[in-house]
Amino acid sequence: MTRFTGKTALITGGTSGMGLATAHRLIAEGAHVIITGRTPQRVDQATAVLGPRALGVVADTADLQALDALMNAISTRFGRLDVVFANAGVGAFIPFADITETDFDQTVDVNVKGVFFTIQKASPLIAENGSIVINASWTLHRGNGVLTLYSATKAAVHNLARTLAADLAPRAIRVNSISPGYIDTPMYPAAALGETEAAAITGRIAAGRFGRPEEIATAVAFLASHEASYINGQDLVIDGGLVNAILA
Ligand SMILES: NC(=O)c1ccc[n+]([C@@H]2O[C@H](COP(=O)([O-])OP(=O)(O)OC[C@H]3O[C@@H](n4cnc5c(N)ncnc54)[C@H](OP(=O)(O)O)[C@@H]3O)[C@@H](O)[C@H]2O)c1
Repeated sequence: MTRFTGKTALITGGTSGMGLATAHRLIAEGAHVIITGRTPQRVDQATAVLGPRALGVVADTADLQALDALMNAISTRFGRLDVVFANAGVGAFIPFADITETDFDQTVDVNVKGVFFTIQKASPLIAENGSIVINASWTLHRGNGVLTLYSATKAAVHNLARTLAADLAPRAIRVNSISPGYIDTPMYPAAALGETEAAAITGRIAAGRFGRPEEIATAVAFLASHEASYINGQDLVIDGGLVNAILA
């Protein structure tokens, strides 16, 4: 498929997990892709693996000066963006009573402020008929004791997708979010869980297993493509049947 031939995509947090898988997917379909991350070595490694149609930029999404430098680099090299996957995020799986102000600030800085300003600063570069996809989480749809802070940040960015869909409508830019379920990535590696915990989780998923980053990448590519031209302001839950399937 060549849905992204001649297109340019920015993927924040593209050095591993869903961001990297999406970079592979969009490049395979013809795109030039800019990936970011905070760790220079990981950015270099991922860029080398992705090949000549990838540009790696070290940029912390919580740092507005770094975002300005990122957008300048994109403007100079490509002049425009067709796709933004605001994917960079951090996990904060801490019981409500134990969450400190530092935990709060660090999580909100990346998961909300980082997403907000990535899109605001990328916006002037996004071409007509462009598409923005925000990586939220299944946790915004369900209450879960150790996920209060994380879930709140993800609910916030889904709301951002809705309001920006309206805000950017005059420029024909669509904005959607995705809510992945349990996906096997460095943030939540299935192999690091004990057997009992892994079984407890997979027992709640209709698919009976964790998702793979590639299964998220196909959905992001769809939402970012012209094939999703009438999908706007939505959240797509990609969870193997975790949120809505009640297993007997
Ligand atoms: N895994 C799951 O089960 C799951 C489920 C639902 C939603 N999500 C969401 O999916 C997104 C991707 O996570 P993942 O599971 O694919 O995890 P991952 O493999 O750990 O990827 C996270 C990526 O974000 C980068 N990153 C983190 N903070 C950043 C920052 N401030 N600025 C720029 N880059 C940053 C990381 O690189 P550096 O560390 O080098 O910066 C890495 O490239 C996150 O938003 C996460 O909340 C994950």
